[in-house]
Amino acid sequence: MSTGAASPAELAVRFEAEAALVADRAAFEQLRLAWTGRKKGILRAMLAGMKEVAPQNRREYGQAVHQLKVAVEGGLEALGERLSAQEKADARQAATLDVTLPGRRPRLGSLHPVTVVNRDIEAIFAEMGYSVAEGPEVENDYHNFEALNFPRDHPARDTQDTFFVEGGALLRTHTSPVQIRTMLARAEPPIRIICPGRVYRNDNDLRHSPMFHQIEGLAIGEGLTVGDLKGTLETFIQRLFSADTGVRLRPSFFPFTEPSAEVDITCPFCAGSGESLDGGEPCGVCSATGWMEILGSGMVDPRVLAECGIDPEIYTGFAFGLGVDRVAMIRYGIPNIRMLFDNDERLLRQVQS
Ligand code: PHE
Repeated sequence: MSTGAASPAELAVRFEAEAALVADRAAFEQLRLAWTGRKKGILRAMLAGMKEVAPQNRREYGQAVHQLKVAVEGGLEALGERLSAQEKADARQAATLDVTLPGRRPRLGSLHPVTVVNRDIEAIFAEMGYSVAEGPEVENDYHNFEALNFPRDHPARDTQDTFFVEGGALLRTHTSPVQIRTMLARAEPPIRIICPGRVYRNDNDLRHSPMFHQIEGLAIGEGLTVGDLKGTLETFIQRLFSADTGVRLRPSFFPFTEPSAEVDITCPFCAGSGESLDGGEPCGVCSATGWMEILGSGMVDPRVLAECGIDPEIYTGFAFGLGVDRVAMIRYGIPNIRMLFDNDERLLRQVQS
């Protein structure tokens, strides 16, 4: 910055004016450089101007420049302190909590569809006097197959697409081993349990995932019949879906039940008609059959009872295995089982518990 022909006294006034305009650190640094910079500062220029001054005036000029220097340095120091104080106050202000601001509402999570369905099913069976039992997901051949009357090398084992674990263990292919564990652990009927849990099969398409969820049910007592099985399942299904849901039992085969039945319900999307409710198109959800399979069931095979120390001459029982993911897909209209396990928040958020 040039000094022009300004006198030290005029410059002191100019400094005051410029200092008064400084509002932040950056402006302060500019001012400081302009006045006290070693190479181009105004004070420097004034001192250098000494040689232009006539010798008899030099003493007076020197004193005036010195006064200017003292004024500028003092002014800068005061200004710097003021800025520091201002900065501290600003930081304090920023850190204070304004309790008058409206609160931020934390977003609530939602339960997974499978969890919701599991809880509903557990609640229905709890009212019917069933308790919940659990078992390990890494099982052995005895509980998963042998005690359930799957003979070694029997082709029925192939239907289970088993994952084996090193050392001879396996991932349970169904929740039925929990039946065995429960009967072995407390052989005194009556027994009424349901066993929810993950099961694993080497299977992967729109309707099958390598991990899925089942709920096993087991009732053992004196004189239980197929009628009890059917009545229990009908009551359960009509409470889970709706009172007008149709239920049918189809003959089937499981090594651990005799007789065995697969259980279908009327398709909730076309109310069992096989035709979409609006346009009379074939219902895509049940492939126009009007029915959907959701359960395997049967009367517990006497050999299984005997294996678990329960006298089949005195006791009978029924068992069922339900696909929980299938129920969740039906209830929430989810077309692909993998969507249940993608953890896409948009799907999960739609489920009201
Ligand atoms: N465990 C059978 C399965 O997963 C289902 C089932 C359970 C069938 C109980 C009958 C009785 O295929």
